[in-house]
Order: sequence, then structure tokens, then C-alpha cells
Amino acid sequence: MTQLKPARILAIETSCDETACAIIENGRALLSSVVASQMEIHARYGGVFPEVASRQHVLSIIPVVQQALSQAHLTLNDIDAIAVTQGPGLAGSLIVGVNMAKGLSLALDKPLIAVNHLEGHIYSAWVHNAGDTVTPEPQFPLLALLVSGGHTELNLMTDHLTYQKLGSTLDDAAGEAFDKVARMLDLPFPGGPSIQKSAEEGDPNRFNFARAWLPDSWNFSFSGVKTSVLYEVQNLKKKSANIPTQDLAASFQQAVIDVLFKKTINAAREFGAKEILVAGGVSANRVLRQTFKSQTEFPVHIPPLSLCTDNAAMIASAGYFRYALGHESNLEMDVLATYPLS
Ligand code: KG4
Ligand code: ZN
Repeated sequence: MTQLKPARILAIETSCDETACAIIENGRALLSSVVASQMEIHARYGGVFPEVASRQHVLSIIPVVQQALSQAHLTLNDIDAIAVTQGPGLAGSLIVGVNMAKGLSLALDKPLIAVNHLEGHIYSAWVHNAGDTVTPEPQFPLLALLVSGGHTELNLMTDHLTYQKLGSTLDDAAGEAFDKVARMLDLPFPGGPSIQKSAEEGDPNRFNFARAWLPDSWNFSFSGVKTSVLYEVQNLKKKSANIPTQDLAASFQQAVIDVLFKKTINAAREFGAKEILVAGGVSANRVLRQTFKSQTEFPVHIPPLSLCTDNAAMIASAGYFRYALGHESNLEMDVLATYPLS
């Protein structure tokens, strides 16, 4: 690939319940990253409350952008372009970030770059802290497994910004299944970290929960495993038996990871991928990370924990490659439009 133009990108991410801003240099070196999480506010509702989320973004967006600039010891004049998550996400949340980005772009007369949130997750694997040892850059063709709260997808990436979607979930996303099963087990929101914690003391082989292999496709399905946990819990309750939460959590987690891991490895082999990339909130899962790192012949890129769940560093990285490869956006961009990845 030809040498890309150097640039400093300021990115904004407000697709769900995190107000985030980050500044990156040349797509990889992270100068600052600020994430204002609303998790505690939404925990009392057992999930993200969209109207509350957008109001919190309105309150947080300006301080978060100011903090990202001051952490990087920069001013707006040092920024070459503004990137922003255009979608997918909650419309009332996205609009706050998009309007902030449009305002900055207009006021500074700097290009505006729309980034797909899923593409952002994938680019989290390119990011390293400025000053830290540079991590090896992912090599194409790359098999990317994206596992978040809203999406589960396998994409073959043949070059920057070039995706062939091989499959996606037919029902629940992997993270959504973690969240729903956590609720069945009376574990707190968000479900992923709670299930992981509970599972640490549990036996992953105690319950043999359904694994939907869908052998003729690269799609996923997690509603079966979710329902099989529900039936098990209902059965135990009927018998007035103690609920072995830790074993249920560990067995559920193992069932999801088995399918994610094996399908990804098989797809990588089938499509001749050189490397594997795993990203999105569920890639923070300790057992999933360990499985991918230790049980395959492929080099595996998984972002550091701070970049697995929503953040703006990943949007800044994807935004840089879009900017450097000539994908500027216009100010009419619509948060409800369709995107290359979804
Ligand atoms: O990428 P993300 O922050 O937001 C979306 O784009 O959806 O992902 C959030 C999802 C939630 O469903 C959460 O339960 C899950 O990621 N998650 C985890 C873990 N940490 C977060 N799932 C399993 N294990 C974890 N440690
Ligand atoms: Zn996300």
C-alpha cells in the first residue's frame, strides 16, 4: 500500500451509553481517549434507557471533548479532521455526537468523516498508546469477528475499509445473549462482565447447553442457548432446587465461546485469511481471549480491554483511514442512513 498522508484526527462516539472523544495520530498512535460512561445510571433500569442516554450525552459532550484536547496537550487548531460515529446506534444518542462533530467541522473548516460503529470496533486493533511499543499491524486478508451488544458478524477484510460480510447473527447478538442470560440469573447489568465473574467459580461442563452450529452458513444464532438456560432455570425453580448460578453462567459462557471460536477458525481456514481479529464488547471476555490466544495457529489481534467496549479511539483510527483514503462526508449525513458494514 502507498504511504498514507499524516494526520491528527479528533473523533467523537455517542452511539449508545458512552460519551467518548479521542485524538489519534496517523491512525494508530493514541494521544488521548476519554470515555464518560453512563453505566451506573442505566444499571438501575437493568439496561440502556435511550432518552436518558441522549440527555446525558448532551451534558457530557463538551467537557469530554475539552478533556480529550487537554490530555493530548493540543488545541482544535492542531486537528486535521473530525471523525464521528454515524451509526448504527440509538438515534437520539448518535445525533448528539454527529451535531457536535458537524459544528466543529464547520467552525474549524476541517473535513468531517462519518464512521460506521462496527468498522470502528474492527479498527480498535490498530490502536496503541503513543509512546508505547508499536504493536504489529494487522495483515490482510484478515478474518474479523465482531462481537458486541448489538451485532455479531464475521467479515473477511481484504484491505483497509474493504469487507466481505460472511455471516451474522440470525437473532440475538452474542453480547445481548450475555445480557439476557445475566438477567435470568439475577446478575447485574451489564451482563457480560457479571457472567464472566460468576463463571470464574463455576463448572463449564455441568450443563450441556445448545450450540447452534448452522453448518451450511457462517451465520450465528444465540436464541437457542439462551432458551436452554431459561428452561434449566425454570426446571430447577419448579423443583425448588438451589440455582447453581456459577455453573449455569460458566456453561452458558462456554457454549457461546465454543461456537464463536470454531466458526471463526473454520472461516479463516476456508477463506485463506492470514490473521484473525476479534473486537467488540464481548472480546473483553477473559475465557474468549484466552481461547483465541492459545488454541489457534493464526496470529490473533484482540484490542486491550479499554478498547473492547465503546470508545472513540477506535472511531479515530477508522476515521483516519477513511480520511487518508479520501472518504470525506458531507454535512447532510444522516444517522439513520445505511452503512457499508451493517
Ligand atoms: O461494543 P459494546 O461496548 O457496545 C455495543 O456496540 O454493543 O458491547 C457491549 C456488550 C454488552 O452486551 C456487554 O454485556 C458485553 O459487550 N461485554 C461482555 C464483557 N464485557 C462486555 N461480554 C462478555 N464478557 C465480558 N467480559
Ligand atoms: Zn460498540
